[in-house]
Amino acid sequence: NQIKTENKHILGTQDASPVTINGWIKSVQKLKNVAFLNISDGNCAQGVMAVLQPDQVTSDLTTGACVSVKGNLVSSQGKKQGLELQAESVKVTGTVDEYPIQKKFHKQEFLRTLPALRWRTSVNSSTLRYRSFCMAQMTNFFAENDFVQTNPPLLTSSDCEGAGEVFKVAGGGKGDKFFGDKPAYLTVSTQLHLEVLAAAVGRVWTFTPAFRAENSDTNRHLSEFWMAEAEISFIDDLEPLMDLAEGMVKSCLAPLMEEGNKARNDLLDARRSAEQKEELLDRWDMANCDFPRLTYKQAIKILNLQHLKEPFAHRPDYEVGLRSEHEKWLATEYFISPVFVTDYPKEQKPFYMKQSPHDSQTVACFDLLMPHIGEVIGGSVREDNYDTLLKNIETTGMDKSALEWYLELRKQGSTPHGGFGMGFERLISYATGIENIRDVTAFPRWVDNCSC
Ligand code: 4AD
Ligand code: MG
Repeated sequence: NQIKTENKHILGTQDASPVTINGWIKSVQKLKNVAFLNISDGNCAQGVMAVLQPDQVTSDLTTGACVSVKGNLVSSQGKKQGLELQAESVKVTGTVDEYPIQKKFHKQEFLRTLPALRWRTSVNSSTLRYRSFCMAQMTNFFAENDFVQTNPPLLTSSDCEGAGEVFKVAGGGKGDKFFGDKPAYLTVSTQLHLEVLAAAVGRVWTFTPAFRAENSDTNRHLSEFWMAEAEISFIDDLEPLMDLAEGMVKSCLAPLMEEGNKARNDLLDARRSAEQKEELLDRWDMANCDFPRLTYKQAIKILNLQHLKEPFAHRPDYEVGLRSEHEKWLATEYFISPVFVTDYPKEQKPFYMKQSPHDSQTVACFDLLMPHIGEVIGGSVREDNYDTLLKNIETTGMDKSALEWYLELRKQGSTPHGGFGMGFERLISYATGIENIRDVTAFPRWVDNCSC
């Protein structure tokens, strides 16, 4: 592991190298003739142990304080770590005032009450580092596949999903005309704008916040979340889209299967018990396969057979749609891997999806369901015919005038195309085993909660 010191990384450092380590005290053990400070600079889950002489110990050396320790790194006699820091001088740069986080297991519900401090725990800081790792992996994945990274707007006049779950920013009404007569919203998905850009440069992707005014108080819904979205021209079926979605997910998960990978070690080091480490390894292993693909109709059949053996809380119903318990069971218990479910009934999906090639009642779409989470990605082939799209807009009762700019695309060199969007926090929750997505995003917002 790397220990970051003043602008340097020490990797395979020689014994007795003089260094300065700046960091926060994770734990303090004061003995008669010696004291141990576990210090973390935030670079990895494993801190460094500083060994202090009794005359260097002061009363302000307490858990949570920020210190700057100068000394020599030498081979440790302790079993757990290779090197320890023999302190020559210790400076407390920031004292603490009744620090609430101690070296013990804290529930996420408790940590959520500490918005300024919760990211300092090993588990939570490893989540932040893993998010950063995934952003880099996705960026590389899309670059390697010749995608143009684009920057669609977050303020928009359209409701992409047509679900009416938009946050309004300007009303377009009297006294509220910032954008003139049209109302403006925070985007629920950048897909419509990505379609425009894909019709110019072929393959585009973006990574942006998305906002949804859903009144869902669950462990997988946020009012503000991050979405990775891709849109591709010149494709008329789901297979290449699912291949790309699978590749993107694997770019984040596959490295965790490689021994010695820094992200893997960091996530494992942050877990205390062998059981927790095993649970993570099991999760990563489940995604280490070709993701199965089946239709919604087949999924409902499988679920109904299971319902006869062991009833779900809700009977799987073709018309009603998959509930979260059904999605989770399919991926976690039946396939024991992520699974693509395709061709949902058109009534269950938004206006922009194209009809399935062999079934007029379904649309050419997919959801990727992941074990323990359920839906993580939604994607589809888009309707590229002007008249059909217009009819879809009208039958769903959407405001046609707000979508004229988008409809125009179907009149000017239209081409079959499709894309998908992935809820980033749901993927992170899968990979880290942190059950509530409120605990994998730095400042979560959900219904009744936006306090900092
Ligand atoms: O399935 P959704 O609604 O699809 C779209 O928005 C498409 N326009 C995307 C596209 O094709 N470009 O949302 C995509 C994903 C979901 O599968 C889910 O993982 C996540 O976004 N998601 C949420 N994540 C957290 N909190 C919420 N409230 C979410 N709503 C959707
Ligand atoms: Mg969806």
